Amino acid sequence: MTNKKKKNGFVAVLDSGVGGLSVLPGLTAELPGEDFVYFGDAANAPYGERTADEVREIVSKSVGRMIDEGAKAVVLACNTATSAAAAYLREKYRDVPIIGMEPALKPAAEAKEHPRVLVMATPLTIREDKLRELTERLRDEAEFDLIPCHGLVELVEAGTVEGNEVRELIERILAPHLPGADSIVLGCTHYAHVRETIRSVAGEDVAIFDGAAGTARETKRRLGAAGLLKRGGNGSVTLTDSSGDPGYKEICEFLLSRLK
Ligand code: DGL
Repeated sequence: MTNKKKKNGFVAVLDSGVGGLSVLPGLTAELPGEDFVYFGDAANAPYGERTADEVREIVSKSVGRMIDEGAKAVVLACNTATSAAAAYLREKYRDVPIIGMEPALKPAAEAKEHPRVLVMATPLTIREDKLRELTERLRDEAEFDLIPCHGLVELVEAGTVEGNEVRELIERILAPHLPGADSIVLGCTHYAHVRETIRSVAGEDVAIFDGAAGTARETKRRLGAAGLLKRGGNGSVTLTDSSGDPGYKEICEFLLSRLK
């Protein structure tokens, strides 16, 4: 493929469902001229309750398909998929930039003198090496409390992002960990959709960090380094999913409109 043809390819953005939508506004702000094709793999959600091997296999198929369809770069807008599959995919597709989510532990650790940081993530992300290694690297700078958040992705996938059910689940998950906490890292892209409830449960003094802006900046940097930035023209966003449910797109559009 010529480089010009490659430059005109799209940027694939993948998640297990609606979570990665929370990364899209940052991506389109950094890269307004690019065409983004979003794929929410709702048929296989939640990834976080699966094994790493399963997630690697599922994500690898979707990434392969999107590269065949003309993706010039792939953003894994999912912490779980990044933990389970990014290294494998980078080996497999050496000439396609594969950008993953970096949980915002470093900015959280640096925001204050030796803070206590709560890291909300899926059970699989917490079992995987990536998060463990990051906490290990920063252990002199902060104390990390890793919290597997069973059930939260399922609610968000159903479009339930406010109200009693969400609040009660977040209270149940966070309450035992909140005393003395300085900040919270959203280690799953779905949780950004319930950020306001997390904020209200945790209180205004607890700072909330996520990796979306960092991923958007890294995507721009990687496209630039590979000579793949599209010059001029208007960008576009196309939403696709594997749900098989005609109502799913409405949930996606509703959630995207809340992020603006
Ligand atoms: N949105 C994904 C993440 O960032 C995972 C959600 C799931 O469990 O499917 O980790």
